[in-house]
Amino acid sequence: MFIPDLSGRSGPKFIALADSFAEAIESNEIKANTKLPPQRILSYRLGVTVGTITRAYQELERRGLIEPKVGSGTYVKDRQAEQDTFYHPITNREGIDLAICRPLLLSQQQHLSAILQDLSDEPTAQKAVLDYYSAEGLKGHNHTLQQWLTKRLQCDIDNRRLIWTYGGQHSLAIIVHALTRPKETILVEGLCYAEFVHTCQQSERKLVPVQFDEMGIIPEDLELHCKRHKPRLLYLTPAVQNPTGIQTSDSRRLKIIEICRRHHVLIIEDDVLYCPPSHRKTPLVAIAPDITLYVGSFSKYFAGGLRVGYLIVPLSLRGEMQKALRANCMHISPLMIDLVCRWLTNGAMQHVDKEIALELNARHRLLNQYFPQHSNNVVPGFNSWIPLPEPLTGYRFSQRLQDKGVHVREAEMFTVGRYPPPAAIRISLTGPTSRNQLKTGLEIIRYEIDLRTED
Ligand SMILES: Cc1ncc(COP(=O)(O)O)c(C=O)c1O
Repeated sequence: MFIPDLSGRSGPKFIALADSFAEAIESNEIKANTKLPPQRILSYRLGVTVGTITRAYQELERRGLIEPKVGSGTYVKDRQAEQDTFYHPITNREGIDLAICRPLLLSQQQHLSAILQDLSDEPTAQKAVLDYYSAEGLKGHNHTLQQWLTKRLQCDIDNRRLIWTYGGQHSLAIIVHALTRPKETILVEGLCYAEFVHTCQQSERKLVPVQFDEMGIIPEDLELHCKRHKPRLLYLTPAVQNPTGIQTSDSRRLKIIEICRRHHVLIIEDDVLYCPPSHRKTPLVAIAPDITLYVGSFSKYFAGGLRVGYLIVPLSLRGEMQKALRANCMHISPLMIDLVCRWLTNGAMQHVDKEIALELNARHRLLNQYFPQHSNNVVPGFNSWIPLPEPLTGYRFSQRLQDKGVHVREAEMFTVGRYPPPAAIRISLTGPTSRNQLKTGLEIIRYEIDLRTED
């Protein structure tokens, strides 16, 4: 019989209880059609009231995870059978998936159901979201995004600089197409978000890697490549580097901006990866709004399936970027933008932001048990970078882990051109659907490293 462990969980007891069951169900620790423990027995074993157990079971029922059967008890739903008829989300691979960087789904489903209810009561809004949309966006939506960004980024953003997109990846593809031509050079960090590399390769742009250290990209190397290649764009992830988690230091930010200004290079500031509130810094777009294209997205902060993101562009590029968006997809679905704006104004987004910070904190505490983290300039985000001791290499080690049922990404997947891959792997702490699964994955990785480096 599954008895939840409530230690380390904060908030109301019934929610902690429901969360613990939900994790076990999501990770298949409790299988479909399993009968849940009778409420009285569970209340006795956990030392909580029967009322608390009833509320927890009601919460699980509301989340669609369990169903009561009259006269027989409460059972875990067979969601696979439900999904097979209609829905096909990314299914978990066999084993433990520490490769995919997915959003942490906490109370989002609750917010979705509430907001759809609101929308169903508002005929005017329904009409608006069913119509074509101007590339400039609906006035109220842009205003909502502007207000939220002004607070979040701590700088004034002119409404006219905002462009809605279908997420970070879409923004990146539009920028590359709008501002460069085939064969032109784009500078990138030596280890780089792989889908940006694919976008550039598919459209035959040339990528040149810039060296970086624990402070960000190295100014001397940037200067050298600016002189040599005369690029129009530099692609950076200064808040949380993908894959290493390094955060570009303040002094480096200023140096990079100074060099780019001198060489007429525009900066793509990709701020899609989740950054905990305690580590958020002034973004480049606040320091150099005239040369920075800021890429934001709600994928990691709320839900990846929404496909909603936004760009903050220099005013001088507004027309060019809007034209590129129209050529690409006409406009973003106003329905999706409407949902996001409602969550931005009704407090849901802030609520989820806090929930993510708490859950991620708990997952980092687990990580620290197996891989104590030391560096100051590394952000405790969704991903963690694990350097490997000699003689291990990222590629071989990740193959080995795969044989053990653990999926990770090796450094080689992120290298650009001839940039030398360090011996390291990237693990995503949000890939596993439960903390238990994460713990097992970390245990296996630790064991496999120690096994290969003993004596
Ligand atoms: C650095 C970076 N940029 C952009 C994206 C794409 O984000 P979205 O899901 O909003 O398209 C990702 C996705 O993982 C990412 O890691």
